[in-house]
Amino acid sequence: MVMRRVAVVGAGLMGHGIAQCAAQAGYAVQLWGIGDAELAGARARIAESVAKLHAKGKIADPPAAVLARLQTTTEMADLAGADLYIETVVERIEVKHDIFRRLDDLAPPPALIASNTSTIPIGRLAAVVRHPERCLGIHFTSPVPLMPVAEIIRAPKTDPAVFETAVAFVRSLGKEVIRVEKDVAGFVFNRVNLPSTVEAIRLVEMGAAGVEDIDKAMRLGFGRPMGPFETADMVGLDTGYFALSALWRETGEEKFRPPELLRRKVEAGQLGRKAGRGWYVYDGDGARIGIAPLP
Ligand SMILES: NC(=O)c1ccc[n+]([C@@H]2O[C@H](COP(=O)([O-])OP(=O)(O)OC[C@H]3O[C@@H](n4cnc5c(N)ncnc54)[C@H](O)[C@@H]3O)[C@@H](O)[C@H]2O)c1
Repeated sequence: MVMRRVAVVGAGLMGHGIAQCAAQAGYAVQLWGIGDAELAGARARIAESVAKLHAKGKIADPPAAVLARLQTTTEMADLAGADLYIETVVERIEVKHDIFRRLDDLAPPPALIASNTSTIPIGRLAAVVRHPERCLGIHFTSPVPLMPVAEIIRAPKTDPAVFETAVAFVRSLGKEVIRVEKDVAGFVFNRVNLPSTVEAIRLVEMGAAGVEDIDKAMRLGFGRPMGPFETADMVGLDTGYFALSALWRETGEEKFRPPELLRRKVEAGQLGRKAGRGWYVYDGDGARIGIAPLP
């Protein structure tokens, strides 16, 4: 299958990053969002990032050429005719089901329907469409334009040719592929990573160590570029909370139970960098200026 048009459904942190990478790779991209303000913000963030990457010599095309390949819309009907749909709305199954149903009506096979879900088994999302064989997971990590990898998840009914088309697509973005051959909740990235984040939050809850020391431990002790709290602030505490809740519901495993403290943080609006405060506090330019008080 020759892939030309990519539709990204959801214009948040991940959606705008995925749309940017696809536009940089030469695809005609449509980015769907729930409102004009969200889409304007997404376009502005993409323009800023593309300009930076171009200045550093990481993108050959002039920024204007990349941006010309990107269209934004709030009308789902405008997405008709794409070769690949990537759903990346909030991590709630009822919202994702609604999107999958709408895409099913809008885009007949052979168009692929992928989800960027962090945790929900793809087979559960594909259960609401008429042709589940064209569904699979393409799970990017944040920040998408900088991270060199995505995992591709095979659901029980995914057509092998669909899987390989997605592998080729991710490689065409200049990223490595992790092949996930079984549709387990949380896949590889989050299945391995989230339990350590949960444990880090529990250590703070117990008063065993502070967020800065735990982040330092994981950076200096394990060579990670960011500690769990720094990562959580970038990802969004609400997104992490939804992902953990979904994973805990799917598996019933204690290691994925969202800590109380995380729930309180989300309820207090301490959502991470996007809110100016999460585990840390940030100034208007995004520089870290302190540790947020625990709610
Ligand atoms: N943040 C990360 O690091 C990360 C990494 C990998 C995967 N993911 C997954 O990607 C998806 C999106 O996460 P994000 O980080 O971009 O979150 P985000 O909060 O930045 O964006 C969520 C998007 O969902 C939209 N949305 C919310 N309610 C909706 C509704 N009822 N109908 C339609 N759209 C709705 C919002 O407008 C927004 O565009 C989630 O499934 C998340 O688990 C996130």
